[in-house]
Amino acid sequence: GVVVGKRVKSRRKWKRVMGVLRELEEGCETTVGRLRQVVDAMAVEMHAGLASEGGSKLKMLLTYVDNLPSGNEKGTYYALDLGGTNFRVLRVQLGGGQGSSILDKDVERQAIPQHLMTGSSEDLFDFIASSLQQFVEKEGNGSTPSFVRRELGFTFSFPVKQLSVSSGLLIKWTKGFAIEDVVGKEVGECLQNALIRKGLDMRVAALVNDTVGTLALGHYHDVDTVAAVIIGTGTNACYLERTDAIIKCQGLLTSSGGMVVNMEWGNFWSSHLPRTSYDIDLDANSPNPNDQGFEKMISGMYLGDIVRRVVLRMSQESDIFGPASPRLSMPFILRTPLMAAMHEDDSPELTEVARILKDVLEISDVPLKVRKLIVRICDVVTRRAARLAAAGIVGILKKIGRDGSGGITSGRSRSDIKMRRTVVAIEGGLYTSYTIFREYLHEALTEILGEDIAQHVILKVTEDGSGTGAALLAASHS
Ligand code: GLC
Repeated sequence: GVVVGKRVKSRRKWKRVMGVLRELEEGCETTVGRLRQVVDAMAVEMHAGLASEGGSKLKMLLTYVDNLPSGNEKGTYYALDLGGTNFRVLRVQLGGGQGSSILDKDVERQAIPQHLMTGSSEDLFDFIASSLQQFVEKEGNGSTPSFVRRELGFTFSFPVKQLSVSSGLLIKWTKGFAIEDVVGKEVGECLQNALIRKGLDMRVAALVNDTVGTLALGHYHDVDTVAAVIIGTGTNACYLERTDAIIKCQGLLTSSGGMVVNMEWGNFWSSHLPRTSYDIDLDANSPNPNDQGFEKMISGMYLGDIVRRVVLRMSQESDIFGPASPRLSMPFILRTPLMAAMHEDDSPELTEVARILKDVLEISDVPLKVRKLIVRICDVVTRRAARLAAAGIVGILKKIGRDGSGGITSGRSRSDIKMRRTVVAIEGGLYTSYTIFREYLHEALTEILGEDIAQHVILKVTEDGSGTGAALLAASHS
């Protein structure tokens, strides 16, 4: 009687857990049909955001970058890259002349101390300026004679209302940064003042979003590059738009007839997005509720935490994870790289899953069946993220007429359409370091576009693109 009772109990609790899993899978469903709705919604919102200020949750910000680097840039330029998990300082030496040659590149990376993300404006900018100062002091004699003023590109990866190519006001923070007194400030000036305080003779020649830096580097290497996407701590995209399509800015004239637009797609929202109760809770408990909805389903800052929330829920429904671990209730304790490591654990016993459960969540001795369940949860969450990002990319292609749909209206069959080669520069840890994510994204792109069109769309990784691109833009704007 006792044994049978136990078995029944175990079957029951397993059933409850499977119910939670099924509900998650249903909630995260991304059929091609649904992805196409997201594509359309993205294109519609792009139009709305370009039509009027505040016309959409997509801000579609002007960048004042109207010419992408040509390849003739020459000299030594610097860049600061702030906005992800790491902070970077770069020096780039450009050859000029022969076209697109980067002769030398020096990059220094460091993690941003957590307290600076929520401290004071002065502390943050002083930290940045000091890092730059140390970097410059280390370079020894040679590269830049002391009487030459150094030109700097500043990659500041947050929504900025640009006033010019080198200045702009911070609209709001994203990705866990929260320094109230910077909101509304001119960010280029904040940095310039910090440089002056340190006695550094450098000029902020370009203030750019990371997507814009990435597009600049992508275009430098490959002129077919028309858009750039970041899928890292946060997610966003920018692309080259015709000025006459930027209706909210009547009379905007540029020599090229175009301008890069920073979409801030992290804030995209549509009722077609597959949303679960975990997303709703995550949003409600975040420092920026009702903001960055698309980003919260896709980017590295959040994916691990969605998984944690699902596991927490299952542990409340049953004891398959053993006694309740207080760790499971700690927001953001399961970082996305760890989630990726569990997802990509290909050992037969899932030893990596076991290790991370034990070390990070303090859950030990779970049977293989439960470890497999964890992998399954990671898969559902990541697959949805990658497929939504793919839909976002196709949304841009649709807006600029590169999704192949234009040809159909002219009466030709889909396979007859002569598609131009279209390159999208892409960066960020989710894409570059999370193989399954990348594969899901590619798979969805092909599903939405169809093979014929998808083969003309090339996603190209630009290593350190956001920083290097800012140095290039400093060069072309100095
Ligand atoms: C966030 C920022 C955006 C940035 C993106 C990727 O979405 O708001 O400006 O491009 O993260 O870093």
